[in-house]
Amino acid sequence: MPIDFHDQVNRLTYAQRQAGDGWAKGIRATVSPEGRHVIDVGCGGGVYCAAWLDLGAASVVGVDFSAAILSGARETLGGRPGLTFHQGDALETGLPDGCADIVFQRALVHHIDDLAACFAEARRLLVPGGSLVVQDRTFEDATHPGSPAHLRGYFFERFPALLDIERKRRPSTAEVELAMHAAGFGEVRIRPLLETRREYADKQEVRQDLMRRTGRSILHELTDAQLAELADYVDDRLPAGERIREADHWSLWVTE
Ligand SMILES: C[S@@+](CC[C@H](N)C(=O)[O-])C[C@H]1O[C@@H](n2cnc3c(N)ncnc32)[C@H](O)[C@@H]1O
Repeated sequence: MPIDFHDQVNRLTYAQRQAGDGWAKGIRATVSPEGRHVIDVGCGGGVYCAAWLDLGAASVVGVDFSAAILSGARETLGGRPGLTFHQGDALETGLPDGCADIVFQRALVHHIDDLAACFAEARRLLVPGGSLVVQDRTFEDATHPGSPAHLRGYFFERFPALLDIERKRRPSTAEVELAMHAAGFGEVRIRPLLETRREYADKQEVRQDLMRRTGRSILHELTDAQLAELADYVDDRLPAGERIREADHWSLWVTE
């Protein structure tokens, strides 16, 4: 079953981690965050709302359609100066026209059916000349081979049926670009981004993380029994007694 973003059980699933190594560098290479007003659509636990403020943004509004997820974000980050949260849909946020210099959407677009409508709403929110920054994984990004540095690849080795789910939900680079043009944006710059997801003290910590499905909607497609099988499969492939640094492959689309 797909993840239910509205279930209180999942309220902290996208909270309580830091933006990974590589993220700030990738963002700075595409836009200037200092003093900007940023809207983070599909903000989840607000990890990247905080990261934009750390980069020098003047203000960040985190938008998400899930009251449950926003309650988790407020629990973790509530009270941080410059940061507010707003419940709204990516296709109709309810925020005023032209209120942002940068609209950011991380790991959102693979959950959206009508990309052009999602980007048209982003365009409405932007001041003239403002930037839309989309970070997501294409099918190719998500399915790099499994290794201690890319644990996600093991999921598809052990359960190839998950590949069909990814193929259906992951838009291609060209689909995102075309939808941006359809929404009225101009030239689109596309670049790869390698972002550390998490460092684990050892493989026991990896097992605990997998069994909680934290921040990994694809694992909600497995039953509990399948998840336990996957944890064993991954465990067999990881070195004992070593730290494990997991990184994810992403694509960045930036347009004005
Ligand atoms: C995979 S999480 C990413 C969270 C966060 N951006 C991050 O990268 O850590 C996707 C988030 O998008 C939200 N979401 C999904 N569809 C949405 C929609 N139509 N409108 C607003 N938020 C949506 C979900 O509630 C969830 O918090």
